[in-house]
Amino acid sequence: MISKLDILINIDRIVVIVIIILFSFLFFEVFILDPKIAKADEEVQKLISKKRKKSVEDRRVGSEIFDKQTLETLYKLANQGHLDVLNGAISTGKEANVLKGVINSSYIAVKIYRIATSDFKKMQYYIQGDPRFNIRSSNKRQLITNWVNKEFRNLARAYEAKVSVPKPIIALNNVLILEFIGSDDGDPAQTVKNQKPKDVDDFLNKLLLEIKKFVNNANLVHGDLSTFNILNKDEYPVIIDVSQSVVRDHPIANELLVRDIKNIYKEFKKMGSSYSLEDILNKLEFDINLDID
Ligand SMILES: Nc1ncnc2c1ncn2[C@@H]1O[C@H](COP(=O)(O)OP(=O)(O)OP(=O)(O)O)[C@@H](O)[C@H]1O
Ligand SMILES: [Mg+2]
Repeated sequence: MISKLDILINIDRIVVIVIIILFSFLFFEVFILDPKIAKADEEVQKLISKKRKKSVEDRRVGSEIFDKQTLETLYKLANQGHLDVLNGAISTGKEANVLKGVINSSYIAVKIYRIATSDFKKMQYYIQGDPRFNIRSSNKRQLITNWVNKEFRNLARAYEAKVSVPKPIIALNNVLILEFIGSDDGDPAQTVKNQKPKDVDDFLNKLLLEIKKFVNNANLVHGDLSTFNILNKDEYPVIIDVSQSVVRDHPIANELLVRDIKNIYKEFKKMGSSYSLEDILNKLEFDINLDID
């Protein structure tokens, strides 16, 4: 016979078992499921830290362009009346950022050399041997200032010789302000690389006339002539990026001129030009020795 007492004891046992099951469940939730939660959390943390890293990188890139000195330079240019607003990037290159600026309601191009990513060896190589820059500077900021001045002076020289280049406006430290090449609405002209001329031979013809003026009248050799450094402004070439350009009597001028001509020939041939290297040389009428092979 089961006594009342027995039932009571059994109920007690059942309660104890239920409590144990409940505790086990909680234990399972807390100690077995929790690692899963912890893992998910870890993933979120990873994502967050990735985001953090990215934003640190963003800030780094941002501050590479607008470091303290660059900001001061831009303020100075604004105070001197050369710049009202900066609005948007045109190009982010290896060494320089080109931004669109506004002054008195018209657009200007603002080229900012980044101190941190500039190729100082290249700069030194081109600056040495140029009689206009007889400075052997090991100071990086000074070297960039020279480089920007060189680009300004090369542009000024080409512009005065009536070569199709953007008009230089002012150079200060690592910032160069120049004429904006593009539409009145502020759409920048595309490089020839990005916007193939409609009539390649006709465009090349115009370009060869500009190169002739660049060499004969401005007395300069570009040194990095390619479809990346020629803008297509309404089917007319505008030559840009003249920082590495050297004077005609620079020791490496001939070597650079030959390289430029061969490069233009190759790139325009690829775009469908019918001109041979000899055709190009005949049009340029330069007194240079060029291996035609
Ligand atoms: N005056 C200008 N007007 C409109 N767009 C310009 C002008 N100058 C430069 N750009 C744009 O900016 C881009 C880079 O300019 P540029 O070739 O002078 O710099 P870069 O020295 O080649 O820079 P990086 O070597 O860092 O790439 C050009 O391809 C062109 O799209
Ligand atoms: Mg360029």
